[in-house]
Amino acid sequence: MDKECYLSFKLRKLFDYAPALRKARDLYNVLNWARRGYSLPLPAYLKRSIVRQVALDAGANSFVETGTYFGDTVAFCLNDFKKIISIELSHSFARAAVARFKNRSHVEIWEGDSGALLKNCPNDSGLCYSFWLDAHYQGISDTHKVNPILEELEVLLNLDIKIAVILIDDARCFGSTSIYPTIDEVKAVVAKYFPSASVVISEDILRVFL
Ligand SMILES: C[S@@+](CC[C@H](N)C(=O)[O-])C[C@H]1O[C@@H](n2cnc3c(N)ncnc32)[C@H](O)[C@@H]1O
Repeated sequence: MDKECYLSFKLRKLFDYAPALRKARDLYNVLNWARRGYSLPLPAYLKRSIVRQVALDAGANSFVETGTYFGDTVAFCLNDFKKIISIELSHSFARAAVARFKNRSHVEIWEGDSGALLKNCPNDSGLCYSFWLDAHYQGISDTHKVNPILEELEVLLNLDIKIAVILIDDARCFGSTSIYPTIDEVKAVVAKYFPSASVVISEDILRVFL
């Protein structure tokens, strides 16, 4: 991990102990976004609020994220779900997230490729899952550029678990570069397993209700 990322992790630790500082940063980012004319992408705070609310409204009591990065969405949802799993391909980021949440027994950080690891989501009748699929290349040296979204969907749509909703980040990017599949490709994978599922795009988030 480079020096800049290391310092970013340290700053997050400070935010974990002083939530008022985090709130000030979030407010600053939202005001900046308003100054930019409310253009996409949404500030992280708003996006996290939407993701958490959609998951809770759909009846989920557990939250699975692909792409942990600094663990900020895990931190944001910490008190809202009975189980939180986040999957990160980068060894150094996964290790730092494990350290960040080491005292939270309902949080698990899994290191590895989300496409391969999603199949390990426990089949527990008490869990109703929400998925936040956000794994993609972030310029981190020990990760690769292939977007795992179609593979992730293939795996999780085949699982024998209760799924309340699947949320996918960065809808605006789909079909815009060779790294992202098109929205129609995403819809085709969903329809293959759940022909009556609805796929809705709102606030830059693809929402799949099975
Ligand atoms: C946009 S960031 C995630 C941000 C995070 N979800 C949040 O809300 O703060 C993308 C992350 O996905 C990770 N990543 C990329 N490909 C992956 C894969 N195949 N499996 C798991 N993580 C992956 C990257 O290393 C990076 O940390």
